[in-house]
Amino acid sequence: MSATLNAEAIDRYRFPAADCSRIPYGMYRDPDIYALEQERIFRGPIWNFLALEDEIPNPGDFRLVEVGDTPVIVDRARDGSLHAMVNRCSHRGSIVQRATHGNAKTHVCCYHQWSFDLTGNLVGVPFQKGVKGVGGLPADFDKSCHALRKLRVESLNGAIFGTFSDDTPPLREYLGPVFTHQVERLFNRKLRILGYQRQRIFGNWKLYTDNLRDPNHGGLLHMFQITFGIARLNATGGAKLDADGKHNLSWAAQGGRAGNAEDPGKDYGDTGRGDMNIKLRDPSLLRYHKEFPDDLTLAVTSLFANAALQQIGNTLAVRQIRTRSADEFEIVSTFFGYEDDDEAMQRHRLRKANLAGPAGLVSMEDGEAVELVHRAIVRDGQDHSVVEFGGRGPVRDQENLISDVPMRGFWMYYCKLMGIPTGETAS
Ligand code: FES
Ligand SMILES: [Fe+2]
Repeated sequence: MSATLNAEAIDRYRFPAADCSRIPYGMYRDPDIYALEQERIFRGPIWNFLALEDEIPNPGDFRLVEVGDTPVIVDRARDGSLHAMVNRCSHRGSIVQRATHGNAKTHVCCYHQWSFDLTGNLVGVPFQKGVKGVGGLPADFDKSCHALRKLRVESLNGAIFGTFSDDTPPLREYLGPVFTHQVERLFNRKLRILGYQRQRIFGNWKLYTDNLRDPNHGGLLHMFQITFGIARLNATGGAKLDADGKHNLSWAAQGGRAGNAEDPGKDYGDTGRGDMNIKLRDPSLLRYHKEFPDDLTLAVTSLFANAALQQIGNTLAVRQIRTRSADEFEIVSTFFGYEDDDEAMQRHRLRKANLAGPAGLVSMEDGEAVELVHRAIVRDGQDHSVVEFGGRGPVRDQENLISDVPMRGFWMYYCKLMGIPTGETAS
């Protein structure tokens, strides 16, 4: 469907409040909105997280990723430079590289064996001149005009980002000082990649970006987190945003019984969430070995639009959101530690990896919550959610966890990129 036809979908919904404290349900279910997002968000003027340099340390190393739903190869060329290109053959559109990761001299398409160098240029076409002057491509066929589509790439402390747009500002500017610091904080030295988790969720990808920007649910939905004090709503915590409100850091410090409430269970009243007397037989799972100069024990940094950097205690990971349709997306998590971790620390990180991911003791409920919403909002696209925790109006940093404000920041920037009028301009 053409971009113009997709753009007509915008007229189907109204954001009744300029501060995005009302989100029409149709934004999550409409396939035309989804198609427009691919063009204006994922291929728009944003930096998409692609991969970590330590995943492709050597020349020829590559990984397959996705930007929205576009398949992309990220690789390192012979001279050590980083490249990203659409994994779609310039001949007849096949996937070129099919291995999820590896080392290659060239990327060769299996269909008719066209080959592309590590920068995406077309370097080989079998039987280009036919056989004995018969068949083959026209004499004026110019290989240099048929490279794979290339993305601009920038790396910050080994975190590789890519963009389709020439209008995207430099990466540090796009991140702003707070989020440049968050990237530098986490990727502060050489990493050791510990493994991957992949989760498919049958819901809209923005229900997950909402979830990431809703610290309120963390201390209500996640029983394990509340009971064992990883993060409770009465702990010290909050959210930091960039000037646009598009990125978000949800943070908590000194979680658990060292938190700022004397009787943490009491604040939960009759929710049934306040029983703090259950104990783990082996509490070492919860232990936090301080490893950053600040006091944050939980820091989830959401970068608009496809990434989340995760520190839950000593569990470190970067999550990439890959969209499939309006009704489905995947989260690919790369778990890591640092090369100089000793064996005990590495073991600790691997055990703590059980806190996150599809069956994670803390995060398994997130996928379920996304699917519960997605199922219930199948009709009545003009009805909307109520996003008022933390107050209405301007979007700004929050010094508590009972807030939806970061969600509104996402949606205000989203509407700007999508060209969606909000509030009084929407009528
Ligand atoms: S589609 Fe790739 S070589 Fe033909
Ligand atoms: Fe959650």
